[in-house]
Amino acid sequence: MTVIPTFRNDAEAKVTGKTRFAADLKLPGMLHAVPVYPDCIHATLLGVESSEALALPGVVRVLTAADVPGHCRFGQIERHTRILADDRIRCEGDVVALVVARTRAEAERAASHVKVLSEPLPVLLDPEKALDPDATLVHPELATNLAVEHRVRRGDPAVAFPACDEVLEAEFTTPRIEHAYLEPEAAVCIPREDGVMEVRAGMQHPFSTRRFVAAFLGVSLSEVEVVGLPVGGGFGGKDDTIAMVCARAALAARLTGRPVSMVYRREWSLKESYKRHPYRLRYKVGFDRDGALQAMEADILADAGAYLSVSPWVTWRSTVQCCGPYGVEHVKCDTRAVYTNQVFTGAMRGFGSPQVNFAVEQLVEMAAERLGMDAVEFRRRNMLRQGDRTITGQVLQDHRVSLEQVLDEVVARIGYHDRLPLCTFGKGDELYGIGLALSYRGMSLGAEGVDFCSADVLVQPDGSVLLETGVHENGQGSESAMILILARELGLDPSGIRYRRASTSTIPDSGTTVASRGTLMGGGAVVDAAAGIRRQLSSVAAPLLGCSPEDVSFRGGHLHSPHGAYVSFREAVQRAYAGQVHPRALGTFRAPRTTWDEHTGQGDAYFTWVYACQGVELKVDRRTGRVKLLRAVAAHDVGRAVNPGMLLGQFYGGMAMGTGYALHEELKLEDGRVRTLNFDSYRFPRTTDLPDFEGVVVENPDPLSPSGAKGVGEPTNELMAPAIANALYRATGRRFFSLPMRVPPES
Ligand code: MOS
Repeated sequence: MTVIPTFRNDAEAKVTGKTRFAADLKLPGMLHAVPVYPDCIHATLLGVESSEALALPGVVRVLTAADVPGHCRFGQIERHTRILADDRIRCEGDVVALVVARTRAEAERAASHVKVLSEPLPVLLDPEKALDPDATLVHPELATNLAVEHRVRRGDPAVAFPACDEVLEAEFTTPRIEHAYLEPEAAVCIPREDGVMEVRAGMQHPFSTRRFVAAFLGVSLSEVEVVGLPVGGGFGGKDDTIAMVCARAALAARLTGRPVSMVYRREWSLKESYKRHPYRLRYKVGFDRDGALQAMEADILADAGAYLSVSPWVTWRSTVQCCGPYGVEHVKCDTRAVYTNQVFTGAMRGFGSPQVNFAVEQLVEMAAERLGMDAVEFRRRNMLRQGDRTITGQVLQDHRVSLEQVLDEVVARIGYHDRLPLCTFGKGDELYGIGLALSYRGMSLGAEGVDFCSADVLVQPDGSVLLETGVHENGQGSESAMILILARELGLDPSGIRYRRASTSTIPDSGTTVASRGTLMGGGAVVDAAAGIRRQLSSVAAPLLGCSPEDVSFRGGHLHSPHGAYVSFREAVQRAYAGQVHPRALGTFRAPRTTWDEHTGQGDAYFTWVYACQGVELKVDRRTGRVKLLRAVAAHDVGRAVNPGMLLGQFYGGMAMGTGYALHEELKLEDGRVRTLNFDSYRFPRTTDLPDFEGVVVENPDPLSPSGAKGVGEPTNELMAPAIANALYRATGRRFFSLPMRVPPES
């Protein structure tokens, strides 16, 4: 067995159970808050009757929107998500009141005695019907249920389609799924004696949580300090919902003057937290006899549920990537997200790409089959290459476009062409199929937001180093990656660098740790900070080394002159301190410019891209329909591999989650009520459902990433569904247009 180099600064604490999550925090005098949910889906809120609950033992306060000193409505994009319901109930997971009590059990008991007075409204559950002119409005003040729309207009599909040799059309649907993080939302808020509200919780985005809390309390950002705790799983899910939980706990802490803990039950988390958007995707694809894609039309409809959350950004990524990693001259894409009274939808690992990839990567194979062409060959003819233009007009020239490389790796590793003849197309009792899928993915936020990150390096008098960055440890190993990048830049052993988890009061707002941007953006800031430290120490060491400061190099724990003189890092630091130089540097990374024209859907959407291919082999028992994955191979261009073992962890984790999306998962709602209220009835993959995973790390250091590294968290999770769909087609002879894919018995 090969040993893969892996560094993990938090490994010991995690595996020995020393890590303390938000639910583990206990403070003297701490109270407990629990949410009160309505028993309706859509209603006008008339009032909350709390006298009965208040009379119960242990109950301290019952809080409603009327108690909020600041704004009840907030959101990352539009400020209309209700942190506490103030006018209407729009979905089952709306929180109408909070019960604050001495213990959680007392608070829960009292919560069932809070009466919500409401007047029912017609319930809107069907996203297709949401745009009917007479549909019930989920947000009447917006005068429409259309939450957002995006488009791409390129060339002239109306002219191009009739000129195509072949045209095919298909419709796909994908389900609402749950992130299934092991740690439900939990927060502890402490009203400090200095007047600051301290918020402790596991989340992906301390800075945006601070905005939620400050707005809700009606205070300035400096009066709230968010301290991120270890995250027990995020996957895009520790975003808006946990921010609202923090804001509610902060309100209770502010109004009682005591620390307040709010620890969610799984049931509340499943009911209230946002999910991955269900999509309906209609595609029309035109191509020539020789296999050249000419035109694509996509009509994409996403269910946003009751609130906007980050639907505009999720659906924007789907729009930018709607044709997959292929160059198409004539494109018309319309993507809409609509409000309904379902649980709201938001960020989830992949962020709008898993849905479109499921469609596009089947469509290209359907097109290839129509022509009798090999599916890999069809991809080769159409995929983007160095210097090509994307469907949004972006020329891919500033980094290595490695689609061919990742495709070749998977095709070779899995023995694709040798095994194709074994595919059964529905013949026999034990069916066999092989399939793959290809993608590109815009890195980080792109034109959806301001992309910036910072890092702070503080060298101590003994040569040990403290590092803080604006990216957050979500459990993905971000702290370890940051340490390794700094160690490389300063020529130090990682053991000499200690990561200090930043709070929102100690480092500039660096955005959210999402969009596979942690290593790319955080790494860029760390490289910049390291350069600052090197400058300071080089000036001190140059006279000792007899060279100019620019010629000092850092490696092996020493500073070297070009002529063989050296001094240890530690000694250089001691000299610096002796001379009143205290080495400290704030590094920043500003993402290169991106552009977007929302009317034409043209622009340089992302400053860099990653490329990926995944392939699977599977068997199907024809009698039972049971699918057995035999093997899965993934190749991802990661820029530069910072921490190879953790990278492979991302590969395997992403592929495992992707398998769940492909074959197992669907969050069931009935009349707007979440029916899956525990993991015993939510079918995510078990280890026995998973095949052997193989990861191929492809490295093409990115010139626009100061560390050379890009991101891999999401790309790993966006290809299993189409790869499995293509393999299932070759096994069964049937195309699957909906997720999760279930092969009917005796098919
Ligand atoms: Mo995410 S799904 O960008 O955390």
